[in-house]
Amino acid sequence: MEIDHDAIAANVAALRSHARAPRLMAVVKADGYGHGLVEAARSAVAGGADELAVALVEEGEALRAAGVDVPILLLTEPPAAAIGALLTARLTPTVYSPGFVTALQEAAAAREGPPAAVHLKLDTGMRRVGVPPADWEDALRRVRDAGALHLAGLWSHFAVADEPDHPFIAEQADAFARGLELARALDAAPDVAHLANSAATLDLPDTHHDLVRPGLAVYGLEPAPGLAGEVPLRPALALRARLSLVKRLTEGEAVSYGLTWAPDRDTCLGTVPAGYADGVVRALGNRARALVGGRRVPYAGRVCMDQFCVDLGPDATEADGDEVTLIGGQGDERVSVDEWAGLLGTINYEIITRIGPRVPRVHLGAAGES
Ligand SMILES: Cc1ncc(COP(=O)(O)O)c(C=O)c1O
Repeated sequence: MEIDHDAIAANVAALRSHARAPRLMAVVKADGYGHGLVEAARSAVAGGADELAVALVEEGEALRAAGVDVPILLLTEPPAAAIGALLTARLTPTVYSPGFVTALQEAAAAREGPPAAVHLKLDTGMRRVGVPPADWEDALRRVRDAGALHLAGLWSHFAVADEPDHPFIAEQADAFARGLELARALDAAPDVAHLANSAATLDLPDTHHDLVRPGLAVYGLEPAPGLAGEVPLRPALALRARLSLVKRLTEGEAVSYGLTWAPDRDTCLGTVPAGYADGVVRALGNRARALVGGRRVPYAGRVCMDQFCVDLGPDATEADGDEVTLIGGQGDERVSVDEWAGLLGTINYEIITRIGPRVPRVHLGAAGES
């Protein structure tokens, strides 16, 4: 797997200049969407990210251990048992449960130093986590009155920002605006308000508030086709291998588990040393195309755990060791993450976060080398 760090930095810079908000928080959870947690974080910061966001305390700790010093938001409230660790690592927790706010206040009050920054999450309609509307006033008062806590942020999350015509977008945006007004009326105005994920950063400028919070677009992918519009996103990830074996195959000789494919003419078969344990999803068998010698060649038979085959065609001149591109560009051709996602009936997010851990990561570009 190659990660183009210049692309990550350039994507952040492009998003930042496109956004109406003065600040950008790059989401680097789940190993930087599969691109490497620390490496992606450094490149995002090099590209102008002011802050970072992760899902887990452990992810934040790993960033701090690597010397990453910008503010790091935890997007979900961690278990109370993790409060000591998050304070030690100077992570900013998202809060929404009264019990967690009380426990955090007590732990922060027992320490020296300035109040601990928190971001309060309002549920405006995603209904996964966050303070439900009936409890907004209570929650705002609780955080406001917690002397050892500082309301650094107020935020919410869209359910359908990748469907630009969906009427629920406006409902959520309006609900969030009401929450912000309530905070101001209660003398609990946050330092920053934020709502926009990648789709909203790209396409819904009225929702940008003080900070945008993109993840997917940082890595150069679109949440839905065409959403990037004029914003020049560059995919940062490529997946390449070398043919481990090339051989002649006679018409009718079936290939791989289940013998599901056989050539209808004599041909050349190439074996690729990557399989479903590496993130080359099994359902791509007999459906996807890879790039060899600048041509699109079909997967031949089922994808196995560690390898799969491609039909190189009767006139192939390739040999063992030649490059095969599974995702990315080769010559004038390209296999995109979205092509895989379309074949598999899933989203590009799932593909990039499931490249297997044993696949070597090759970090390319100035930001990655820093
Ligand atoms: C709360 C929250 N904010 C922002 C993001 C970034 O979303 P996207 O990758 O669509 O930009 C995510 C991603 O899952 C998220 O959970």
